[in-house]
Amino acid sequence: MQMKNRLANLMATALVLLLMTAGCRQAPFKEVGIIPDPHSFSKPQEARVKHLDLELRVLFAQKQLRGVARWTFAAEPGAEEIVFDTRQMVIDKVTAGRGETPLEFQLGDEDPLLGRPLRVSLPEARETINIYYHTLPGAAALGWMEPEMTAGKTLPFLFTQGQAILTRTWIPCQDSPGLRITYEATVQVPAGMMVVMSAGGNPREKSADGTYSFNMEQPIPPYLIALAAGDIAFQAVGPRTGVYAEPALLAKAAWEFADMEQMVVTAEKCYGPYAWGRYDLIVLPPGFPFGGMENPRLTFATPTVIAGDRSLVSLVAHELAHSWSGNLVTNATWNDFWLNEGFTVYFERRIMEALYGLEYTNMLELLEYRELLDEIEALGPNSPDTRLKLDLTGRDPDEGMTDIAYQKGAAFLKMLEQAAGRARFDAFLKAWFEEHRFTSVSTEDFLDFLREKLLDKYGLKVNVEQWVYQPGLPDNCPVPQSERFAKVEAQAAAALEQLPDTSGWTSHEWVHFVRNLPKEISPMRLKELDAAFGLRHTGNAELLAAWLECAIRRGYLEELRPQLEEFLTGMGRRRFLMPLYSALLEHGHRQLAQSIFAKAKKAYHAVSANSVEKLLAATGQQ
Ligand code: BES
Ligand code: ZN
Repeated sequence: MQMKNRLANLMATALVLLLMTAGCRQAPFKEVGIIPDPHSFSKPQEARVKHLDLELRVLFAQKQLRGVARWTFAAEPGAEEIVFDTRQMVIDKVTAGRGETPLEFQLGDEDPLLGRPLRVSLPEARETINIYYHTLPGAAALGWMEPEMTAGKTLPFLFTQGQAILTRTWIPCQDSPGLRITYEATVQVPAGMMVVMSAGGNPREKSADGTYSFNMEQPIPPYLIALAAGDIAFQAVGPRTGVYAEPALLAKAAWEFADMEQMVVTAEKCYGPYAWGRYDLIVLPPGFPFGGMENPRLTFATPTVIAGDRSLVSLVAHELAHSWSGNLVTNATWNDFWLNEGFTVYFERRIMEALYGLEYTNMLELLEYRELLDEIEALGPNSPDTRLKLDLTGRDPDEGMTDIAYQKGAAFLKMLEQAAGRARFDAFLKAWFEEHRFTSVSTEDFLDFLREKLLDKYGLKVNVEQWVYQPGLPDNCPVPQSERFAKVEAQAAAALEQLPDTSGWTSHEWVHFVRNLPKEISPMRLKELDAAFGLRHTGNAELLAAWLECAIRRGYLEELRPQLEEFLTGMGRRRFLMPLYSALLEHGHRQLAQSIFAKAKKAYHAVSANSVEKLLAATGQQ
C-alpha cells in the first residue's frame, strides 16, 4: 500500500515536472535580459508596461484621436518613475488607478526623430496609470484619407502604421520592439463606419452605434498595434481567413486572395502552428505607404497588389510568414531588422515554392536578387549599411529598410540551408521559432543558437561572421537560376530588331523583360513595344512602375506623362514612388517631379511624403 502511494507520488511529481518543462518550452514569455534600444526613451529595466487598455474616439473632422491609454506595468522595488515615448501628441492629464488620483508627469525636450519622453512619477500602490491625451493632425502614424482618396468616395478613412517608431505618435507607449504587451481597446467612430484592429474581436458587420471593442491576448511589441476605420466590409475566404475592404473592392479582393487559407496551412507545415487564431487581411486605400504590413491577425495591404490575376500574392505569403518571423520572434532592436525581414523573405519563398512550384518561385527570387545587386551598388559595396547587423543609432530606423535586411538576409539563410541540407535546416528553424516564441531576440542570440543547434552539431564550417558583420555580398551567396528568365533576357537583347515572343508570359516575365531592355533602345522602339503590347494600360502595378521608370530613363517620357501623373497621384506606395521620382530627378525633370509632388502630396501618408520630400531636397542641393 505504502509502496503504491510512493509510486503514485513519484509519478505525480514526475508529471508535474514534465508539465512544467513542457510549459516552459511552450510559452516561455521569458523576461530576457533587456537589450538597450537606441530608439526609445523608456527604461524597461526599471519599470515596464505589461498591458494596455485603450479607449479612443476618432474625430475625422479634426484629424484627431482623443482618449485614454490605461497602462498596467511592473516596476523594480526602488523605481520612482516610468518613462513613455510620445511624439506629436498632447498629454491632457495622468492619473493612477480606478480612483483617478492625479499623478505628476513631465515631458522632456523634443527630439525630431524620437519625440519626447513622458516621465510619470510611479504611484506607491503601483496601480494602473491612465494617460489622457489627444493626437496632433500631423501625427506620423496616422493616414487620414479624405473621401476622394477612397474607392467609395463618400466616407473618410483612417489607418495607422506603427513600424518602426511611429506608434508613439498615436499611443503614449514604451515604443521598443524589445518588449511585449497585451491590449484591449474600445474605439468610437461615427455610426456607419467600421473599425478593425490587430486583435481579436474584429467585426463582420458595422455596429449600430459606431463603438467597437477588441482584445489582443498574445503579447506583441507596440509597433504591431494597428487600427483602420472607414467604410469597410468583410468576406470570408476560408474557415479562419477572410478579407476586409471597401465594399466596391471586396469581391475583387476576395477573389485575388482566395489562396490565403492554403497559405496558412502550408506555413504551418513548415514551422509549426499558427499562433494567432484568425488570419485576415484588409485592403487599404491607395495612400497606404507600404505593400503590406504584418499587423497580427490582420495584415494591412495596398490595393496595388490586386492585379486581377493573383500574380502578386507573394505579398500575402510574406506578411503571413511574419506571423512567425517578426511577430512571434521579434527583432530586439531595429539594428536586428534582418531577423524580421530576411527570415520572412526566406519563409515567404518556401510558402511560394510549396504552393506554386520552384520554377515560379525562382523567377520571383531572381527579380529580387537583381534588386539586391543594384542596392549594393547604390549604397557602395563597402558601406556599413550593407552589413546585416546595422548600426542605426541616431538615425531613422527607416534607413535600415533596404534590400540588405530582406534579400541579403534571405540569401544568408538559403546559404545555410544549402550547407546543412533542407531537412536539418527546417528542424533547426522550427526549433528556433518554438524556443523563442513571444520573445524579442538579437542577432547575437541567433548566432549563438545557430552555432549550437546547427553548425557545431553537424560540424559545418561557414563564414557566418562575414555574412553578418562585413559589408557586401560574400562569394558563397547563392545565385538564383531561372530558365524562363534566361529566355526573357535573350528576347530583351533582341528587342532592338524584333518584337518579343511573349506567349505564356506571366507579369514577372514582363517586368524582367522591361528591366533588361538594352540601354541604347530608342524612344521610337519603346513606342512600338507600347503599341504592340499595351504596356501603358497594364493593370499590374509592378509592370506599370517598371515601364514608367524605363520610359523616363530612356527618353520616352513625353508620351507617358498622363499615365505617370495618374500613377504618382493615384497611390502612395513608397516602393513605387521613390524609383520614379529618382528617375525624374536624374533625367532632368525636376520641375515635373516637383509639380506632381505638390499635387499628390496630400494623398500620401506621412511616411511616403517625408521620403519623397527628403529626396527632392537632398538632390536639390547638388
Ligand atoms: N514590415 C514590412 C513593412 C515595414 C518595414 C514597414 C519597415 C515599416 C518599416 C513589411 O512586411 C514588408 O516588408 N512589406 C513590403 C512587401 C513585402 C512583400 C516585401 C513592402 O511594403 O514593400
Ligand atoms: Zn516584411
